[in-house]
Amino acid sequence: MLTGDGFCWKQPPENRRRAPSLPSSHLPEPGNLQDPEVIMSKLTIVAFDGTRHELDVANGSTVMENAVRNSVPGIEAECGGACACATCHVYVDDAWSAVVGPPEAMEEDMLDFAYDVRPTSRLSCQIKMSDALDGLVVHVPERQA
Ligand code: FES
Repeated sequence: MLTGDGFCWKQPPENRRRAPSLPSSHLPEPGNLQDPEVIMSKLTIVAFDGTRHELDVANGSTVMENAVRNSVPGIEAECGGACACATCHVYVDDAWSAVVGPPEAMEEDMLDFAYDVRPTSRLSCQIKMSDALDGLVVHVPERQA
């Protein structure tokens, strides 16, 4: 697929260019988490080694932002959440898959570049926390692409 700027996302992995790694400071601020106006949800990210990272996160933030902010291993997020790298790949827990829903078309295209894609695969930068996702559990794959 050729995009409007001429970049072909369907290049084989060896021909793709990666966005430079960005420091976590490029992420949007989560807001004052002590502010009673900020609505919080629970998010559990299970690292590949089985370690459970149980987080209180602000609604409106993405799973990727919270993973990076909390140094969860295995989420690289090289494009900073622009849906352009597929290095924030996660598996949504089976119990949550229907609630989270399927990827949009652009995300689905990017998932073609992820490692070991499964039916519950999503890019964590495209999952925004909300009341409906309070308690969400996602799993980090063995490696990113
Ligand atoms: Fe790059 Fe999600 S951070 S696709």
